[in-house]
Amino acid sequence: MVKKVGIITAGGDCPGLNAVIRGIVKTAEYANVETYGFLEGYKGLLENRYIKLDSGVTSDIISKGGTILGSNNKTNTFAIPVENDLGEIEYVDKSTEIVERLKKDNYDCLIVIGGDGSLKSARDYTRRGIPVIGVPKTIDNDVPNTDTTFGFYTAVEIATEAIDRIKTTAESHGRVLVLEVMGRYAGWIALAAGIAGGADTILIPEIPYDLNAIVNKIKQRKEKRGKNYSVIIVAEGAKPIGGDISIKSTVGDSPDSIRLGGAGEYVAKEIEKLTGKEARNTTLGYIQRGGNTGPYDRILSTELGSMAMQLAIEEKFNEMVTLLNGKITHVSLDEVAGKDTEIGAKSSNIKRVDLNGDLVQTARRIGICLGDN
Ligand code: F6P
Repeated sequence: MVKKVGIITAGGDCPGLNAVIRGIVKTAEYANVETYGFLEGYKGLLENRYIKLDSGVTSDIISKGGTILGSNNKTNTFAIPVENDLGEIEYVDKSTEIVERLKKDNYDCLIVIGGDGSLKSARDYTRRGIPVIGVPKTIDNDVPNTDTTFGFYTAVEIATEAIDRIKTTAESHGRVLVLEVMGRYAGWIALAAGIAGGADTILIPEIPYDLNAIVNKIKQRKEKRGKNYSVIIVAEGAKPIGGDISIKSTVGDSPDSIRLGGAGEYVAKEIEKLTGKEARNTTLGYIQRGGNTGPYDRILSTELGSMAMQLAIEEKFNEMVTLLNGKITHVSLDEVAGKDTEIGAKSSNIKRVDLNGDLVQTARRIGICLGDN
């Protein structure tokens, strides 16, 4: 029987994390299961820093963004950088000592709330003999085997509001205004918010763009509708045909060392050169990840958290809870994490925008420029 469960919120924070924690803890209390939250994601697991959770601790957190446990998108416990005697950095696998400690401390299961990298580590802990359940988290919506991740629709709501606001100033000044949004190597936020906000052009990583297609769109708006302004949404991972993604920085000890940034600034600069019109970029950044959680994500997070604990109670491990075809259910973590057999491998298995899917087809049918037409 499951009596003690550890919880981790890992990777970049995301609206809905607290609602998931609350859903887990409340469900656990009714079943007399103890819950402990490791602090700052896998870092807290490595350093054995945790707090005891109960419905007092999780009271009134359903609306609050971020995570009461803290998070961290750097620590890969399968490859921790350690300085050796020669002063060189060596990468050491700390997972075996963590597993031994978890077993000694009588943990029956770990619930990992994370994106693709964190869920891959979760799957690797099951291979080391720790029963794990995953919960798909990210504003990027790029986790496979789920209709949507929690946090995505809150981010889309924030990005849509930003487009509404940018549009009125673009119109007043007759400018081209570019909005760069997050999403890493998937264009879900850009595409959904771009459609919701009525953008003229949406650039996503899945469709390398031709600057001339964007210039034509700007000209057409002027010629056909007399509109002297344009709004362009650029996913941070978008790149020109034959060009590269825009990298802001690299982080040495992170499972995904690349931090994207600059794609919107590049598009604004090039469009200004090609059209002679004033173009400005706004990067939405962390605003789209912070603040209160929207009602849809509060509900989805509560359902996923509660189902995660239900699976633990039923001892259905090595699964990820998911929303599939509108139903809360579960799929194997092996399917989600990809086929690689090497424990701690850096490969990722993300869900990118389907070019034949409804969003892309709708955008094309209503005349949004996707950079290739
Ligand atoms: O994966 C979530 C996300 O917010 C991405 O959209 C973004 O590229 C990345 O995290 C930013 O990471 P960091 O928090 O390290 O700046």
